[in-house]
Amino acid sequence: MYVEDAMKKIGKEVTLRGWVYRKRESGGIIFVIIRDRTGIMQIAVKKDSVNADSWKDAQDTTIESSIIVKGVVKQDQRAPTGFELQASSFKNVHIAEPFPITEYQSTELLLDKRHLWLRSLRMTNIMKARSLVFRYARKFLDSKGFYEITPPLITMAGGETGADLFEVKYFDQKAYLTESSQLYAEAMVPVLEKVYSFAPSYRAEKSRTTKHLAEYWHLEPEMAYYNNDKNMKLQERLVSYIANRLAENEDLLKALGVNVDDLKEIKPPFKRIKYEEAIEIVNSKGGNLKWGDDFGVPEEKMLTEDEDKPIFVYAWPKELKAFYARVDPKDPRVVLGADLQAPHGHGEIIGGTEREWQMDRLMERIHEIEQAKGIKFNLENYQWWLDLRRYGSVPHAGFGMGMERLIKWFLNLDHIRDAIPFPRMINRLAP
Ligand code: 4AD
Ligand code: MG
Repeated sequence: MYVEDAMKKIGKEVTLRGWVYRKRESGGIIFVIIRDRTGIMQIAVKKDSVNADSWKDAQDTTIESSIIVKGVVKQDQRAPTGFELQASSFKNVHIAEPFPITEYQSTELLLDKRHLWLRSLRMTNIMKARSLVFRYARKFLDSKGFYEITPPLITMAGGETGADLFEVKYFDQKAYLTESSQLYAEAMVPVLEKVYSFAPSYRAEKSRTTKHLAEYWHLEPEMAYYNNDKNMKLQERLVSYIANRLAENEDLLKALGVNVDDLKEIKPPFKRIKYEEAIEIVNSKGGNLKWGDDFGVPEEKMLTEDEDKPIFVYAWPKELKAFYARVDPKDPRVVLGADLQAPHGHGEIIGGTEREWQMDRLMERIHEIEQAKGIKFNLENYQWWLDLRRYGSVPHAGFGMGMERLIKWFLNLDHIRDAIPFPRMINRLAP
């Protein structure tokens, strides 16, 4: 049985399986706090209430040893959670070596010992919330008639800017870890029409910010016959659904210090502002942006610090967006795409665009980028993707949502690394 169920069994005998969270001895009683995935409970092992083997096991047990305990549940205001299990038997499954994490530890040590630190109550709760966020995201898209697809993660070329790729040796060839699965999702559009890829993306960005990971989980839906407006509507519904469903887990969120009402109030529609207006807002708060400048962490903060819901920023200068983004025929300076910015300075959580689906316009755009940036596209590697514009191309749109960015915002985490069990960052590869 789990601790949370045992709390409802006052006066009954139950068996708990878990790990030792704390231990102390006082006058013939050994107090052990057991931890499992649902919580903690005090166990009192009295010398004269258990047999010699149980008493020895209780004496020998150590922090993080795995144990199986039997006993009767009592209410006891002196116990940390108000309940105590009065043990009739206590068994060590495995006696842990001295646990390397003690009460006050540096952030660096906790990251070095991440595989063990994940057992802390806070990380346990974050991992639960993460799993729920993933579950609700899938649930929403599945219920809207999407098929989940599985892209390759080893690729021959970049799918985004191509500037921050991790290179891998692929037999005798050079290959790269994918920076986005979009191009493969696009290939699945003429197959399944509404699809999503849910996979890691890799970015060798040298950024040391609180919102950059080198490996992050990327949810990338791609839809036939969607335009920018429909794309944004889908995004605000998806984000609201996940937020509202997560808000149902009140105890979990309370334990994490998250205000449930804030998440309940995330509802469509989200504010839409043009890039131009966003620049004005930032500049009115002391920023110094001009047309063509991208937003960094400070600018995103100025833009969103007073918001309670995410906001879309659309009509970006085409120079700032990737080769596949469709230029607005009514205003050729900008592309038909939007970024979704999370409130309270958490920054960009989604990037989405209508895709350029017509071959001649796509080639025009690629040549324009080549000229502007003085680079040469290796079109050889993109022939398969260009084929999608040769054979039965259709208008389509899609977006990419960074799951750890979403979780960082929902749980109001200080750093994105806590939104993922084993963060990969510029200075961290272990554990
Ligand atoms: O804006 P990005 O680069 O867009 C794309 O990759 C598109 N191909 C997506 C698509 O249309 N299918 O990345 C999308 C999102 C960002 O909004 C952000 O949430 C997240 O991915 N992201 C990162 N998350 C954590 N660490 C990083 N280094 C990230 N880079 C991007
Ligand atoms: Mg982006």
